[in-house]
Amino acid sequence: MPYEPPEDFMRALHDLLGRVPTPFYAYDLRRIEERTRRYLEAFPTARVFYALKANPRLRLLERLRSQGLGAEAVSLGEVVRAYVAGFMPDEVVLNGPVKPPEVLGELARSGVPTLVADSRADLERIAQRLPEARVLLRLNPDLPVDTHPHLATGRGDSQFGVLPEDWPDVFARGRELGLEMRGLHVHLGSNLHNPADFAARLEVLQRLRERVGPLEVLDLGGGFGLDLDPRDLAPGMFALARAYGAELWIEPGRALVADAGVLVARVWAEKRTRRRYLLLDAGMTAFLRPLLYGARHPVRPLYASERTAVYDLAGPACESGDVLARDVELPVPREGDAVAFLEAGAYGEAMHLDYLDHPRPGAYAWDGARWEVWRRPGRLPALWEDEPDRAEYL
Ligand SMILES: Cc1ncc(COP(=O)(O)O)c(C=O)c1O
Repeated sequence: MPYEPPEDFMRALHDLLGRVPTPFYAYDLRRIEERTRRYLEAFPTARVFYALKANPRLRLLERLRSQGLGAEAVSLGEVVRAYVAGFMPDEVVLNGPVKPPEVLGELARSGVPTLVADSRADLERIAQRLPEARVLLRLNPDLPVDTHPHLATGRGDSQFGVLPEDWPDVFARGRELGLEMRGLHVHLGSNLHNPADFAARLEVLQRLRERVGPLEVLDLGGGFGLDLDPRDLAPGMFALARAYGAELWIEPGRALVADAGVLVARVWAEKRTRRRYLLLDAGMTAFLRPLLYGARHPVRPLYASERTAVYDLAGPACESGDVLARDVELPVPREGDAVAFLEAGAYGEAMHLDYLDHPRPGAYAWDGARWEVWRRPGRLPALWEDEPDRAEYL
């Protein structure tokens, strides 16, 4: 069953609808705090790094930092964003399959986070440019992770990490290069819902332990699906960290913010082709997950009417794939009525596209009494401000 936002939040959404343009994202801060507390309580002695790709708004990062979390980043931009939000370099972990020389050079200037090397080449480059860096080496556990293929980073055929048979040698190479090799990183994938995936990883890591000496850090990444209870997973993860003599780190993203957020869009037309559509002012450029991952998000009407019908909800793009939900039963709307897509707080706003020049949706957070602006709605001129208005040559 999806989490239903509380009534006062839904009432506050109605109020917000009259004050800001649609589409917009809205978050319930109390839910984010509750979810964060749940993870901190389940992992009391672990270090918890929030995967800021899920939702990188600065005001959110500041709040999570004040709850004691670190930040997990996958680009130079995300590292610098984390610093802007107040995180210190030793509170930030940088992942990602490639760390180009310019990125390493920039980190030397702005502050060096813990780096997760993703390959032998990554290690060599880090050793050349940032010889003092603290480094983890990412493992590809080569498991048939049960999630959408675009999210299954722990599969052996994905581009991530170093396979178990190669991991000990590549790790030793890092030491030879003089790097401070602190431990092992492994991220199975995102939106995991099957505890068997976590159990399979324990086995891989237990086997690997025989070939790897004690480590300082065991970073088991994120991927916790909304319906998983962290209290069920924590004991196995802590036992594994103990087996390595390591401190446990985790990197949840979606689990902390997804069900606290909604996307609100207005209905501008009802239309029949061979199917029955509602046409919305939000589509794939505002909310990519349905198209990218086939994600299904529950929809709630922010209006009432007596009759209902079953609709597909389509966006404004000239793409037949621009459908945010199919076969949704809703009250028959009037022009301008609004709907809310639930569980849109992670990888929703963060994935907004400039494609088609739709201005970016604004973002607002409800604290139980007031709406805080997390990001103002995008402005049209911002979409072309980096384009020369007369010929410019290099
Ligand atoms: C390395 C790494 N850590 C953590 C995460 C967070 O995953 P989730 O939001 O599913 O918890 C991701 C997401 O892709 C990731 O790539």
